Amino acid sequence: MAPKEQGEVRFLLNGEVVEAQGVDPTRTLLEHLRGDLRRTGTKEGCAEGDCGSCTVLVGELDGQGGTDAKVSWRAVNSCIQFVPMLDGKAVITVEGVAKDEPHPVQAAMVEHHGSQCGFCTPGIVMSLYGRAVAAKGADAPVDEVLAGNLCRCTGYGPIIAAAEAIMPEAAPDVADKLAALRRDQALSLNYADPIAGLTRRWFAPLSVDALAETYAVHPNAVVVAGATDIGLWVTKLRKPLETLIDIGRVDELKTVSSEGGWLRIGAGVRYVDALEALGALYPDLAAMMRRLGSTQVRNSGTIGGNIANGSPIGDMPPALIAAGATLVLRRWNERRTIPLEDFFIAYGKQDRAPGEFVEAVLVPEPAPDALFKVFKLSKRFDQDISAVCGAFNIRIEDEVVTAARIAYGGMAGTPKRAAACEAALVGRPWNRATIHDAVEALAGDFTPLTDARATAAYRALTAGNMLRKVFIESARPDLETRVETYAPEAAHG
Ligand code: FES
Ligand code: FES
Repeated sequence: MAPKEQGEVRFLLNGEVVEAQGVDPTRTLLEHLRGDLRRTGTKEGCAEGDCGSCTVLVGELDGQGGTDAKVSWRAVNSCIQFVPMLDGKAVITVEGVAKDEPHPVQAAMVEHHGSQCGFCTPGIVMSLYGRAVAAKGADAPVDEVLAGNLCRCTGYGPIIAAAEAIMPEAAPDVADKLAALRRDQALSLNYADPIAGLTRRWFAPLSVDALAETYAVHPNAVVVAGATDIGLWVTKLRKPLETLIDIGRVDELKTVSSEGGWLRIGAGVRYVDALEALGALYPDLAAMMRRLGSTQVRNSGTIGGNIANGSPIGDMPPALIAAGATLVLRRWNERRTIPLEDFFIAYGKQDRAPGEFVEAVLVPEPAPDALFKVFKLSKRFDQDISAVCGAFNIRIEDEVVTAARIAYGGMAGTPKRAAACEAALVGRPWNRATIHDAVEALAGDFTPLTDARATAAYRALTAGNMLRKVFIESARPDLETRVETYAPEAAHG
């Protein structure tokens, strides 16, 4: 294989090497597939990671490669993946699923009348194909796998029936081909954008030291992890991004480890890869994370990115603030740690200097007697942005509250602790009267806004109701207070 050019993106498309030369680094994979490569089976519905029409499978070698390296396959939304993010990876589109005859996934969709409209069906096929070939895919609940494929003609019954008829199968073996594409130098691209009138640059360092250096030299760059948010800056906001730094190749940022009572989650760890470890410590957090985005979004998005972008409606920050998480920030060779809640200063403003990036988040193990609950309230149960997200970490000894960490998203310009509410709880008996006072105290903590997701009054009411629910669930564990989501009988009910 010829030596690789620094400015050339190479990836496997349905098993064959393709080269993208001179490509705008903010061109999406979907645009590249449809517009440049004429693979038009992959459809565009929303161009913002919501509908799943553009679903493709991306495979990459685990870790450093090597002789026994495995390829892990994930379904992602190609509309919010930038082309350079695919360098050295494998992509399977709907054109690559069938060989001489329809693939069993396609045959099942036909047999069960699951093939409805031409926009959604290719994406649905790819999600189900991803479930069939992913290492843990066959165990994944069908509803969870399909939550990111929106069908507006309401015909999910046949699609679910098709999904349940599909057997797991071996994933395509492309490990050797991917090993040959492995890049041992940082990727850097330059592209003169005639419309924006600027030169766009893309850097993909290979180590955290190189990342720190690159960001120090380009402190105004945009740091890209999964692009599930930044993708929309391009497809929806048309922001003229000039310099981007991709952390997706920095293996040191992709590890989850336990150290002295803390879980250390690197900034490049995707939701899907943190779910198991976080869920072992905080089961309620894992339940919430399964509703955060879709399978495709959780396969791309990172917890570090959800924190770093500072959104007031991100779901991870309130949960991690309640847990007592600490942020590790790095600038050049300097590191500092701060409590996560201190990172969020005001709407759109975080405690982060130019050239400083989130390196990791440290999540403490919960106290053995802690009551930890997270509630995500959104108009749609799956894959929707929260109107309010409330997280509660409360310790009770001898019926008295001894400690409380409570945080909300969607109630202010930042994710924020409910200091007055916490004060109204601590030292008081864990009973209805205390809860009443603590709910009243929330009015001193927040002045929520009315927007498209909820009115201010609704937010205030439901934030209080979440605390009431914490109390009800602790006092009456026999009551059913949660929506049963993924039970098969619920899927067909
Ligand atoms: Fe809708 Fe990509 S086009 S998720
Ligand atoms: Fe496209 Fe239902 S399959 S709207």
